[in-house]
Amino acid sequence: MTVPHRIWLTLLLPMVISPVVRGSGLDLHWLWEDRCKDCHGHSADFARRHLEVVDGELRGKHRLRDLSLFLRNHYPAGMEVDALYGMLKAQATTPPRFREECSGCHESAAGLVRERMILRDGVLYSRITDEPIEDLLDGHADTQEGDVKFFTRVLTRIANEVYRL
Ligand code: HEC
Ligand code: HEC
Repeated sequence: MTVPHRIWLTLLLPMVISPVVRGSGLDLHWLWEDRCKDCHGHSADFARRHLEVVDGELRGKHRLRDLSLFLRNHYPAGMEVDALYGMLKAQATTPPRFREECSGCHESAAGLVRERMILRDGVLYSRITDEPIEDLLDGHADTQEGDVKFFTRVLTRIANEVYRL
C-alpha cells in the first residue's frame, strides 16, 4: 500500500514546526566525541586552551581571523558547524568550575544533563523530581547564591547543546 504524499506531510509537518518537539539537531557533545575528540580531547579544555573570543568572534590563539570559515573546511560537520562554533565560543569563555567543583561526584556536565534534566520553555528541570534545577542547586554541594546562577546558566546552555530544536 502506498501512502499519498499529503498524508506524510500532515504527519511530518507538525514535527518540523512545533517548538516542543526535539530531535532535529544532533547532540553537539555527542558529535564532538564522535568526530573531534580523538584529535582534540575534551571540548571545553580544548576551547579554553587554544581558543579565545575577541570582538565577539571565536579565534584560535595563533590565528588572527574568525574561525567560522576554517571550521567549514575542517572535518566538516555539515549543518552543525555554526552550532559547534557557538559551543566552542561559550566554552572558551567559561571557567572550568564544573570540573573543579562538581566532577568529583558527577563525571561530566553533559552526562548529568542527559541523564537527569529536561528543558521546558527554556527553563531547566529535573527529570526526577520535576523541580527547576535552579531550586535544586540551592545549598547543593555548598553552593552560594552566585554559584547557583552560574551553574544554572552553564547547565542550561549545555542542555540547549544536547537537546537541540
Ligand atoms: C584528524 C585530526 C582532527 C580531527 C578529527 C579534527 N581536528 Fe580540528 N584540528 C586538527 C589540527 C591538526 C588542527 C591544527 C590545524 C591548523 O592549525 O591549521 C586543528 C585545528 C582546529 C581548530 C582551530 C584551533 C586553532 O588553534 O586555531 C578548531 C576550532 C578545530 N580544529 C575544531 C575541530 C572540530 C569542531 C572538529 C570536529 C568536527 C575537529 N576539529 C576535528 C586536527 C583535527
Ligand atoms: C559530594 C558529591 C557531590 C558534589 C560535589 C556535587 N554533587 Fe550534584 N548531586 C550529588 C548527588 C548524590 C545527587 C543526586 C541526589 C539525588 O539522587 O536526589 C546530585 C544531584 C545533582 C543535581 C540534580 C539532578 C536532578 O535532576 O535531580 C544537580 C543539578 C547537581 N547535582 C548539580 C551539581 C553541581 C552543579 C555541582 C557542582 C557545584 C554538584 N552537583 C556537586 C552529589 C554531588
